[in-house]
Amino acid sequence: MRYDFDQEINRYNTASLKWDDVERQFGEKDLIPLWVADMDFMSCMPVIEALKKTMEHGIFGYPIQTEAYREAVVNWMKKRFQWEIRPEWLHYSPGVVAALSFLVQAFTQPGDKVLIQSPVYYPFSKAVTDNGRQLLHNPLKHEGERYEMDFDDLRQKIALGAKMLILCSPHNPVGRVWTKEELTELGEICIANNVLVIADEIHADLLYPGYKHTPFAAISEEFAQNCVVCTAASKTFNLAGLQNANIIIPNTILGKMFRAVMDAPHLVRTNIFGAVATEAAYRHGEEWLEQILVYLHQNLQFLTHYIANNIKQLKVVQPEGTYLVWIDCSALGMNSKELEQFMRKQAKVAIDDGYIFGPGGEGFIRINIACTRKTLAAGLRRLENAVNGKK
Ligand SMILES: Cc1ncc(COP(=O)(O)O)c(C=O)c1O
Repeated sequence: MRYDFDQEINRYNTASLKWDDVERQFGEKDLIPLWVADMDFMSCMPVIEALKKTMEHGIFGYPIQTEAYREAVVNWMKKRFQWEIRPEWLHYSPGVVAALSFLVQAFTQPGDKVLIQSPVYYPFSKAVTDNGRQLLHNPLKHEGERYEMDFDDLRQKIALGAKMLILCSPHNPVGRVWTKEELTELGEICIANNVLVIADEIHADLLYPGYKHTPFAAISEEFAQNCVVCTAASKTFNLAGLQNANIIIPNTILGKMFRAVMDAPHLVRTNIFGAVATEAAYRHGEEWLEQILVYLHQNLQFLTHYIANNIKQLKVVQPEGTYLVWIDCSALGMNSKELEQFMRKQAKVAIDDGYIFGPGGEGFIRINIACTRKTLAAGLRRLENAVNGKK
C-alpha cells in the first residue's frame, strides 16, 4: 500500500514527550517540536493490525518471547544486513538506553573507565557516570565535511586503562554510517587491548541512498565474541513507546552475565505489545520502511536547500543515516547558553542543543526531520526569521 507521510496527525494530548512536554522541558510556549528522536508518522499498517488483534483479545497476562518472534528478528538481520544471528543470542531489554546501563553494570566494575566517541547521544555518558564508572572521551574529528574517528587518540585513551567502549553506529548526532574499514580498525584496537565493544545500532535501518550499515559483530568471529550489539525496531518503525529492544550477544559467557544482571530486577520478560509490534514490523514492515526512507531523504534535501539558500550562516553536516541532522551554528557567534536561549526565545523551535552531546557539541544543534514537510518548513521559516533578525 501507499502511505501518505504528508498527512498531519495531531499529537497534542496523546502523552507525547515530543509534543506535550515541550513547555515543561524548554520553558517556553508554542515551540515547534523538532527534538527527541521519534517520528510524527503512524507506524506501518501490519504493526497497527497486529496490535489491534492483541488488544481485542483483551487478556494481557505475562508473555513469553516466542520462537516466531526470534525468527522474525533473525530473518530481518539476515535480509537487511546479511548478518546471520542465532535465536539464542537474543536478549530482551525494555529499551536500548536501559540496556546500556545494565551492560555497564554487567561488564565493568565501579571506577572502571569507559570510552565514548563524543559528541554522542547524551545517555551514553549517563550510563557510565550514573553507574559510578569513569568516562573517557575519544572525540570524533571534524575535518572538512564529515566526522572521522581518531584512532591515535583512541590508542592513547585505551592506554589509560579503558575496559569498554560504547560505539554509536550509525552515529547520533553526527550522522555517520561507519564503513567496514573504520569499524575494523576500531575493533582490532579494542581486541588487542581487551576493551569490550558495546555497539548501539538502533539507527541501522535508517540509511540514505548509497550507504550500507555493517553490523559490528558481523565483521569476524573474533569481533562477535568481543561485542554486544544493541538493536530495536523502535526508531525504524516509530515504536519507542512500546519499550522493546533486542540485545544481541554472540558470546555465551557474556550472554549469561548480562542475563544475570537483568534477572535481578526481573527484566527478562518481554512486553506483549512491544513484542507483537516488533515481530509484525520485521515480518511485514519492509514496504513501509522503503517509503519512509524516500520521504526522509526528501526532507533532508528540503532542509539542506532551504538552509543553503535562506540561512547561509548555518552549515548542515550531511548525515549518511538517521533522521537527525547536525547543524553547525558557530557562525552565529553565540556561546552554548546564548544559542540555547536564541532557539527557544527568538526562533521558537524545540531542538536538541549541541552541547548536551558532550565535548565538540558546542555551537551545534540537532534537528529531527522525521516530521511532515509542513512542520519542517514551519520550523525552518522560524529559524530563518530569527537568524535574519525578522519577526
Ligand atoms: C543511539 C541511540 N540509542 C538509543 C536510543 C533510545 O533507545 P531506547 O528508546 O530503546 O531506549 C536512541 C534514541 O534516540 C538513540 O539515538
